[in-house]
Amino acid sequence: TDNGGTRVFTLGISAGETQIKPGKKTQTWGIDSSILGPTIRARRGEQIGFLIHNGLDETTSIHWHGMHLPAVMDGGPHQEMHPGAEWYPQWTVDQPAASLWYHPHPHGHTAEHVYRGLAGMFIIDDDETDALNLPSEYGVDDLPLIVQDKAFDEDNQWDASSPMGTPSGILGDEILVNGTHSPYFDVTTRLVRLRLLNGSTTHPFNFGFDDDRDFQFIATDGGLINEPFTTNRIMLTPGERAEIVVAFEPGDEAILRSYPMDISIRGNEARAFGIDDQFDICQFRATSELADDTEVPSTLAPEPNLDIDDVITRRNFQFSGTHINGKRMDMERIDFGVRLDNTELWTVENEHNNFHNFHVHDVQFQVVSLDGNDPPAHWKGWKDTIHLPNFEPVELLLRFTDYADPNIPYMFHCHVLRHEDDGMMGQFVVL
Ligand code: C2O
Ligand code: CU
Ligand code: CU
Repeated sequence: TDNGGTRVFTLGISAGETQIKPGKKTQTWGIDSSILGPTIRARRGEQIGFLIHNGLDETTSIHWHGMHLPAVMDGGPHQEMHPGAEWYPQWTVDQPAASLWYHPHPHGHTAEHVYRGLAGMFIIDDDETDALNLPSEYGVDDLPLIVQDKAFDEDNQWDASSPMGTPSGILGDEILVNGTHSPYFDVTTRLVRLRLLNGSTTHPFNFGFDDDRDFQFIATDGGLINEPFTTNRIMLTPGERAEIVVAFEPGDEAILRSYPMDISIRGNEARAFGIDDQFDICQFRATSELADDTEVPSTLAPEPNLDIDDVITRRNFQFSGTHINGKRMDMERIDFGVRLDNTELWTVENEHNNFHNFHVHDVQFQVVSLDGNDPPAHWKGWKDTIHLPNFEPVELLLRFTDYADPNIPYMFHCHVLRHEDDGMMGQFVVL
C-alpha cells in the first residue's frame, strides 16, 4: 500500500521457457512467471494500482478485460509500453464481484501476445457475495480455469509467428489449463466452483462433463446471475467467462471436456474455428471423504436493471468481412461518442458465414434479445463479451458511468483476436 492508501501490485512481463510437455521446454512469455500471470484479487471499493514493467523486446500493453475504469487506465492500444518501459495505472474498483481477466492489447499484435502466454485472471470480491456461503476457498473448492488451445511442433514449440495461422488465427489441437498440459484436480469437497475463462485466441469451447452430469450455472462475465440454473453444457467464445458449481460424490471421477458445437456456421469457416472438435480439458478425482459446508442459494444477485424505456440513443453494428459497419480499425478515428449516464441500445449483427463475438470495454451490458427472442439463460446476467450467431441480431442495453474523457477512447471489437488485429475493432469516447 502506498501513502495515498492505494494497494499497489508489481508485475513484470518477460520472455522465458516452460516445461509444458516431456522433452524440450517451450519458449513462452509470462507475467511474474514463465507463462501466464498471477491471479489478481481486489475488493469492491478498494483503490488499486499497478507498477508494470515491460521486459520484452516488443511493445505491449496490459488491458483489464471487463473492468469499469477510466479510459486512460484501460490498457488498450493507446496505452502501450515500449520495451523496457513502465506503466502505472490506478483506479478504484467499483463493480460487483466477478471473474475478469487481463491480457495485452497492443495494436495489431494482441493475438500473438496472448498466444505466447500473456494473460491472467482478475477476481473481484464484494461483501454481498462473501455472505452467500458459495464455494470460495481459492484452490480448494474455488478454481480459476484459464483454458487455451495450442498447436505444438515436434520441438515442443508453438508457432506464434505473425501473421498467425489462417485469417482466424492459430487453432490448437492440445489444451492447456492455467498453462498446464493434461491437468487433473483432486476434489476434497462436495461442491466445487469453477471460474471458466476461454483464454484462447480463436477456439470457442462447449464445456460439459464426460458423464453428462448437470452443474449449476451461477455467474456470467460480469458476476453472479439472479437465479442459478442447471445445465450440462456451456459454450464460451474467446474472452468470455462463466462460473459453474459442480457436485461430486466420494470417490467420483469426471472429465471436463469441450464438445462439438451446434452453431450455424458452415464449411471451411466451421473448421477454422474447430466447431467439431472434442477435447479433454481437466480430470477431477474426488477423495473418499468430501467436506460439505457450502451451498448454492436459490437467489444470488440482483438482475441487470437497465430499462429499454430509458433508451436515448440507438446504434447498429454490422459485422462482415474484416469490418464493422464497413470500416476497419483506425487509431486516429473515433467512431462515436456516448453521453455519460445515458442508456443506449446497441444492435449487433454478424452478417456473413464466419465466426465472431462482440466485446465492449469499460462496461457490462444487458442482453435484451437474440434474433427477436428472449436471450438464452446464460446471457441473463451482466456480460462484456457475447457470441454473435450468424444472421441473428443481438440487442444490448448499455450505460456508461463515472468516467468521461473526450480525448481517450475505449474499444469495441470482435474477440477472435486475429480478427481484432486485422481491424474488426472501433473506438468510442465517453462525453
Ligand atoms: Cu479482452 Cu479489447 O479485450
Ligand atoms: Cu476488454
Ligand atoms: Cu470475428
